[in-house]
Amino acid sequence: MAEFPPFYDNLAACHVELWQRLKDGVTDRDSAFHTPALATIDPHGRPQVRAVVLRDADRAAGTLRFHCDRRSEKAAEIATTRTAALQAYDRDAKMQIRVDGTAELHTDGWFAESIWTQAQPMSRAVYGIAPGPGTALPNGGDYTLPDRDEAILAGRENFCVVVLRAERLEFLYLDRRGHRRALWLRSEAGWVETWLAP
Ligand SMILES: Cc1cc2nc3c(=O)[nH]c(=O)nc-3n(C[C@H](O)[C@H](O)[C@H](O)COP(=O)(O)O)c2cc1C
Repeated sequence: MAEFPPFYDNLAACHVELWQRLKDGVTDRDSAFHTPALATIDPHGRPQVRAVVLRDADRAAGTLRFHCDRRSEKAAEIATTRTAALQAYDRDAKMQIRVDGTAELHTDGWFAESIWTQAQPMSRAVYGIAPGPGTALPNGGDYTLPDRDEAILAGRENFCVVVLRAERLEFLYLDRRGHRRALWLRSEAGWVETWLAP
């Protein structure tokens, strides 16, 4: 029988593991944490969920970052509710991570500008799509993307960085010998942690 992982009965180690998995997910395209599901609440109070690419995970600040088009529904939902949640399950690691927090849109300031400047032309091109994301089309291909050079500028006004400041973190590790589920809530003094019944 396999040994228990070092975090199995250690809350502090679970916290380190959770952030390390998220951090690795930023660069490891094969990780499930590379493309977590993002949940928001729409104007009708209905949950909306879709995949995003995780761009940064900062354990010290307790923040996660992803990018979207400011014309998108998710951007509007975040602008209104200022909340969002992320979830991913890594089948190989048998780990689910859930993050719930306050979400902030960055569009015009130096922060979004510096990230835009570093982005690859191919990544920038999607923000120049016309008409904007979610627009109904007569045919599936009735939209345009800027070419490589145009893309440097075309999508900037639509580019949006979202920073999710975690208020609640949850870690679930599946093991036949007994699952482990842990919760962290942000407080002024730092994270308050507890085990939960799985
Ligand atoms: C693997 C994958 C990664 C995606 N990454 C992003 C992303 O980083 N940002 C984004 O806005 N949309 C991303 N999308 C598209 C969204 O899931 C979604 O379809 C689209 O943004 C429209 O969402 P909305 O209408 O709720 O705003 C991704 C889709 C997939 C399948």
